[in-house]
Amino acid sequence: MYNDKDTTQLLQQSKLILQNSDDNHFIESNIELLRNVLRFHEYRYYVLNNALINDNEYDFLFKTLQNIEQKNPSLITKDSPTQRVGNSLNEGFETVQHLVPMLSLDNSYNAEDLFDFDRKVKEGSGLQEIEYCVEPKFDGASISLIYENDILTRAATRGDGVEGDDITTNIKQIRSIPLSAPFSKYGIAQIEIRGEVIMTKDAFNKYNERLTEQGLQTVANPRNTAAGSLRIKDPKEVSNRNLDAFLYHVSYIASSNSSKEETLEMFNSNIVAQNHPLTAGATHSEQLKMLWDCGIRSTEKVKFTAKNIQEVVNYVTNFEQKRDELPYEIDGMVVKVNNLLLQDKLGMTSHHPRWAIAYKFKARQATTILKAVEFQVGRTGAVTPVAKLEPVFIGGVTVSSISLHNEDYIKEKDLKIGDTVLIERAGDVIPQIVKSVVEKRNGTEKEIIFPSACPVCNNTLFKEEDEAVWRCINIECSAQVVEKIIHFASKDAMDIKSLGEANIRKFYELNLLKDIPEIYKLNFSVIETLEGFGKKSITNLQKAIEASKQQPLNRLIYGLGIRFVGETTAKTLANSVEHLLDFTKKTEEDLQQLEDVGIKVAKSIHHFFSNESNIHMLQELEHLGLQLKNTKKQTIGLGGLAGQTFLFTGTLSTLKRSEAETLAEQQGGIIVGSVSAKLNYLVVGADAGSKLEKAKKINTIKIISEEEFLRLIG
Ligand code: IVH
Repeated sequence: MYNDKDTTQLLQQSKLILQNSDDNHFIESNIELLRNVLRFHEYRYYVLNNALINDNEYDFLFKTLQNIEQKNPSLITKDSPTQRVGNSLNEGFETVQHLVPMLSLDNSYNAEDLFDFDRKVKEGSGLQEIEYCVEPKFDGASISLIYENDILTRAATRGDGVEGDDITTNIKQIRSIPLSAPFSKYGIAQIEIRGEVIMTKDAFNKYNERLTEQGLQTVANPRNTAAGSLRIKDPKEVSNRNLDAFLYHVSYIASSNSSKEETLEMFNSNIVAQNHPLTAGATHSEQLKMLWDCGIRSTEKVKFTAKNIQEVVNYVTNFEQKRDELPYEIDGMVVKVNNLLLQDKLGMTSHHPRWAIAYKFKARQATTILKAVEFQVGRTGAVTPVAKLEPVFIGGVTVSSISLHNEDYIKEKDLKIGDTVLIERAGDVIPQIVKSVVEKRNGTEKEIIFPSACPVCNNTLFKEEDEAVWRCINIECSAQVVEKIIHFASKDAMDIKSLGEANIRKFYELNLLKDIPEIYKLNFSVIETLEGFGKKSITNLQKAIEASKQQPLNRLIYGLGIRFVGETTAKTLANSVEHLLDFTKKTEEDLQQLEDVGIKVAKSIHHFFSNESNIHMLQELEHLGLQLKNTKKQTIGLGGLAGQTFLFTGTLSTLKRSEAETLAEQQGGIIVGSVSAKLNYLVVGADAGSKLEKAKKINTIKIISEEEFLRLIG
């Protein structure tokens, strides 16, 4: 991007500006120079990690520009470095369409899978030897950027692959992403680039330190934090989190001399690859170089070009050993056919390109001691055993407790208190106990005794025949009541911002909040007297509670916490009535007519609306001003599982087969009995056999692990 001569010149110019910073006239007439100087230093610092001036000097230059622009707003340009810093909050995120759908990647787990992939590529291309480009698989959130006439005009999340959220304002807070880049020198008028927003280990630790200082709960892993950060309202907070990005794919290019439609058509029909100055005979690695040359932090410096698949295998196995040395988390490598013409020839399935594959690293493992087991009561009364562990560090996070799911799980894994246990962070997200290391027992280990009474209200626990969980069925059990209120106020339900878990627990303890309707009758004169509740926080709380009254019906239904009713079913239910209390007139058969409502779900909904105290509560909520009428129809997002077919094979580790099927069904999934081209997802547990083999032969089937399934259903 900048050669030695440019660098020397820009440094001289930096000095000149610093020397003349109080000469308004000088700064005004050299404003574009000042911007270039700032862009150069941002690039040195954020892209190259090699700053040439110190923070104070940079801040001073930045303030100088800010002052001049404030005095002369007409001088502000869209790509001025000052324009990153948004002053206003994001009000929701507009849905936008990607120029080219964002696909996912097929997965491989060992050398054999990679050789298999290479064989298919060779078959598809008729070539004897294939050159590959290998890059880290960043563990973050994917984004899509559009630059038009050298200016960053739009940034979007992946969304469902076809449409995502417009997050331009937040992306502008990431300083390794330039607001402008000189693509025009390559004859490019418009370009869409894909990449990953990540949080480095360092930024993650600093963020957690800040949360701890503020007395807030720390976050569990960099990936979720990066993904969550993209959709927060306050761009300044995004800026504070110090996110980073790598760009790894050019999905669309429009050249300066043809129209957008023409170029898109050419791009899709390979012609661009042959005719375009950039892509003629070109490779993916050349595109990375071009991006880098335009100041984009592409994977140029972390990629490896392999002459053949054997080199790929050697490289990825070697890299896996070094993954912990990187300053950011990666969960594998991505192997891409390097030649762009060949990529076009190989094409793609509806899910992934045939010219690329992800090589997933093995889950990280560690051993530790199982010190104790606590039993927690959830909002449905389910009692979940939670293992308390000697804290252990696995790949970036400290794990000190892990869910043991249910009694059967404890028995199957033969766990005892005092055991040395092997822990795994599969996919680097949810920690799990793989097994107890029986050889390390010394006879002092104790059986884990599952309680027969609720650990909170002492009522006898019950277990249904086809279920693995024990439940407390006392609906007044305080643990359940509190969890129900927490769920009602949560982000995906009524989204009552200031009424988080800690406040709900506090108010409950103080007898201020004993059930859901009491949220709308809170005694603020008492709350005012509590420590930590100033005028501002009370006003925020009141506003948030008041605003929640207007939440659409689907959110209210979801917030009621009816068993088996997830967000998608809640939308279906909301769409099927004029008023929430219409459900009191519906039979189980009526309910089963609805799109994603099976026998079990219908029974649960019917049960809820046959209960007099529930009806009472709903009437009271309406009286308190909540919206029980269906004011607008909710569309069921493309991201939902509506209509997608699922088949489970092998032994699942955390769920019973029937539970997994119910979970898929709750979100509109359809369970099928055999592998065929109609199958969308095969969920694979341990010791999977012929179904897996058969599915591997059908390209359109997505083969996923139990953990990926859990992530899919959220
Ligand atoms: S290429 C059509 N390259 O992994 C091109 N993806 O599990 C598809 N990812 O959705 C993407 N690092 O979000 C590519 N170097 C890399 C990547 C990468 C991370 C993500 C990406 C993708 C997901 C698939």
